[in-house]
Amino acid sequence: MGNYKRTIIITGGAGFIGSHVVRLMVNKYPDYHIINLDKLTYAGNLANLADVESKPNYTFVRADICDYEAVSRVIRDNAADGIIHLAAESHVDRSIVDPFTFARTNVMGTLTLLQSAREYWESLPGGYEGKLFYHISTDEVYGALAMTHPGGVPSPVSAHVAYGDQFFTEESKLDPHSPYSASKASSEHFVRAFHDTYGMPVIVTNCSNNYGPYQFPEKLIPLLINNIRHRRPLPVYGKGENVRDWLYVEDHACAIDTIFHHGRPAETYNIGGFNEWRNIDIVRLVIRTTDRLLGRREDEDMGLITFVTDRKGHDLRYAIDSRKLQRELGWQPSLQFEEGIVRTVRWYLDNQAWMDNVTSGDYMNYYDRMYGRR
Ligand code: NAD
Ligand code: TYD
Repeated sequence: MGNYKRTIIITGGAGFIGSHVVRLMVNKYPDYHIINLDKLTYAGNLANLADVESKPNYTFVRADICDYEAVSRVIRDNAADGIIHLAAESHVDRSIVDPFTFARTNVMGTLTLLQSAREYWESLPGGYEGKLFYHISTDEVYGALAMTHPGGVPSPVSAHVAYGDQFFTEESKLDPHSPYSASKASSEHFVRAFHDTYGMPVIVTNCSNNYGPYQFPEKLIPLLINNIRHRRPLPVYGKGENVRDWLYVEDHACAIDTIFHHGRPAETYNIGGFNEWRNIDIVRLVIRTTDRLLGRREDEDMGLITFVTDRKGHDLRYAIDSRKLQRELGWQPSLQFEEGIVRTVRWYLDNQAWMDNVTSGDYMNYYDRMYGRR
C-alpha cells in the first residue's frame, strides 16, 4: 500500500459531492492514501473520477456502508486514520416514495461505520489519538425557515439578499420534515452520541444546496440544463417560490478539506455561501444562461416552464449562517452564483456524453469495464 502519512476513507466518493472531495484530496495530498468506499447505487458513477482512478494514492473499494464485515475489514486492513462520510441516499423526492431505504443507508449505514471505526480505533495503543470521523450533513435537518420578506431584502448578516429574518446557525435545533432530512438528523445524533459516549473525535458539518459538475440529473439544476437542451418541459414545484441557499460544489469540497484538517473535534460547522434564491428565479437564470451558451435567443425557452403539483411537505426556505466557519477557519466561497451557473451550464454542455450515459443508464456498466463484473 506504500508508506503514506495518513489513510482516509471517503464514503460516497463516486457520487456528486464525494467525487469532488476525492479529486481534491487525491491531487492535493499525494502523501495520503485516499480510499473511496462506495456501493455504486444509481447515484454512484465511477466516470465522475476517471481523471484520478490511475493515481497511485487512490483506491476504490466497492462496499455497502451497511455491511459491517466489509466496512470493518476496509478500516482495519488499511489502518484508516480518518473517515469522511458522504455516502447517503440524497434525494428528497425518492425519500417520500421509499423512506425505508433512507433509514437503512443513512441511519444504519452511518451507525455501522461508527461502530466499525470505534472497534478498530479503540484496539490501537494510541486509541483515538490522531483519528477523526467527519460526518457530512445538510442544512435540511434544521427544518424550514419563515419567509418574512417574499420580495427579498438586503441580508442583515451578509452582502446578499435574504427572504427572511432568521438563519440556521449551529445552535438551531434539529427539526427535520422529510424522510430524507429525518434520516440525516438521526445519523447526526448517532455521530454525536459516539463522541459523548465513547470519546470518538467527530465533526459534523451542515451544508446548503450544492450545484456544479457531476450532479445526478434528478436534482434541479442539471435537470433543467438537460431539459432545456432537449426542449423538454421544466417542472417547477408549486409556485416556484421556495427559497434555497446555493453553494458551488468545489467550494464545499474546499470547506471539507479545511475543516478536516483544522476544525475542532466535537464541533459543528455550517457551510453556505449566503446565496438565497427562489426556485423560479433560478429556473429563469438557467434558461437564459443555457440559451445563450447554446447560441439560442436568450429567453427563447421560457415557455418550457411548467408549474406542477408541489412536493409533499415542501420546506419553504433554507438559509445558512456560515459566519462561524468564516471567522474560525477563514473559509470563504470563491464564486458568485451567476458565475458558478455559467461554469456549470458550460460543463454540462461540454460533457453531453456524461449526461447521455447517465440518462440512458449506460454509466452503470463503467464498473464492469474498469474492475470486472459486479
Ligand atoms: P449523491 O446521491 O450524488 O451520492 C451519494 C453516493 O453515496 C453515491 O455514490 C452512492 O453510490 C453512495 N451510496 C449510497 N448508498 C450507499 C451505501 N449503502 N453504501 C455505500 N455507498 C452508498 O449525493 P451527494 O449529493 O453527493 O451528497 C453527498 C452527501 O452530502 C450526502 O450525505 C448528502 O446528505 C450531503 N449533502 C448534500 C447536499 C447537496 O446539495 N447535494 C447538500 C448538503 C449535504
Ligand atoms: P432539489 O435539487 O431536489 O434539492 P433539495 O430538495 O434537496 O433542496 O430541489 C431544489 C428545489 O427545487 C426544491 O425546492 C424543489 C425544487 N424542484 C423543482 O421545483 N422541480 C424539480 O424538478 C426538482 C427536482 C426540484
